[in-house]
Amino acid sequence: MRLTLLTGSVSGTADMVADAAETRLTDAGLAIARLSGANVEEFLASAPEAILVVTATTGMGEVPDDLLPLQLELNDRFPLLTGIPFGVIALGDSSYDDTFCQGGRDMRNLLLELHARETLPMLELDASETVNQDEDAIPWVVEFVAALGR
Ligand SMILES: Cc1cc2nc3c(=O)[nH]c(=O)nc-3n(C[C@H](O)[C@H](O)[C@H](O)COP(=O)(O)O)c2cc1C
Repeated sequence: MRLTLLTGSVSGTADMVADAAETRLTDAGLAIARLSGANVEEFLASAPEAILVVTATTGMGEVPDDLLPLQLELNDRFPLLTGIPFGVIALGDSSYDDTFCQGGRDMRNLLLELHARETLPMLELDASETVNQDEDAIPWVVEFVAALGR
């Protein structure tokens, strides 16, 4: 199964979480296409059979710059991803009340609008609660792998 891993990170925490997830997913036999700063053509060319988004939130509640162009293009071009299983790991900080994990929420909503199928409720990793986001993500990733039937 081909899985496209989309990352959005400013200072590297989401990238670390994506590293940990990628190891587990590869161990489970998935073929990973990891994209950062991709455009919609590159995303579609990866021909995803499953999608994992790992993204921080920045600015006023946006996804980081390495994910933003793809988010905007997906919104514009609206390529349907009907039935493709996906999951989102959202990194944020609950001290940003109103926009806590907003980047991940927006990506989740976008994928649902494109008719992708959420296989596991979104994981929220709160920087006010943990500094081990990569370790904390592992149980969720294990469940995600199982939900993909691997
Ligand atoms: C300038 C700035 C703005 C942020 N804005 C938000 C926000 O609106 N909502 C939120 O939940 N977290 C926000 N965060 C927290 C980050 O999303 C969180 O610390 C995350 O773990 C950082 O991941 P990264 O190292 O991959 O960039 C912000 C952090 C910074 C530095």
